[in-house]
Amino acid sequence: MKFFVDTADTKDIADLAATGLIDGVTTNPSLIAKSGRPFAEVIAEICALVDGPVSAEVVATDYDGMITEGRKLAKIAANVTVKLPLTLDGLKACKTLTGEGTPVNVTLCFSANQALLAAKAGATFISPFIGRLDDINLDGMDLIQEIRQIYDNYLFDTEILAASIRTANHVKLCALVGADVMTAPPAVIKSLVNHPLTDKGLETFLADAKKAGIKV
Ligand code: E4P
Repeated sequence: MKFFVDTADTKDIADLAATGLIDGVTTNPSLIAKSGRPFAEVIAEICALVDGPVSAEVVATDYDGMITEGRKLAKIAANVTVKLPLTLDGLKACKTLTGEGTPVNVTLCFSANQALLAAKAGATFISPFIGRLDDINLDGMDLIQEIRQIYDNYLFDTEILAASIRTANHVKLCALVGADVMTAPPAVIKSLVNHPLTDKGLETFLADAKKAGIKV
């Protein structure tokens, strides 16, 4: 499973990229706004920090506007993936932009039928939002499972990019169900390494090594 980091904070991205564990980045207008920096500038900087795909989202809602913005975003760097909303205009724009060779991430997916449409529109990635479904008392993981089944039935190439991940458990469940990619905030990715028995075991090993005067 590929790991994308869901943030527009370039310091966090640089820190995580240095671990070698990050395969790409996702942003959205809310994350860009939070960074407080100009859109094109922050996307260009992120693209230079990671080799993998960097999702940059349009803000237009009509087909022509999405195409204009998508083409502009794609020119920022070779690893930009244009992020489009799951609307009819978004799907139409997805078909056009992928036809031009620009990778597209179709975002704000909350149903299996929406994911089916995105695959038919040639999306590179589909982003089902797990946390936001959980927030309204539905099970986001059921959606990932349904999309996996549908994409496997018809051998769609569209990659399932599990988004709106809030917990380490979400990450584990995505891996079990077979999501191709998961995107999570830096804190969730960093938390995956934590286990109290690892900390306790390391403490004991180091204490024993010190007592015995072991040097490597
Ligand atoms: C994905 O591409 C989105 O940017 C993100 O995962 C949304 O997460 P949230 O629901 O926690 O805002």
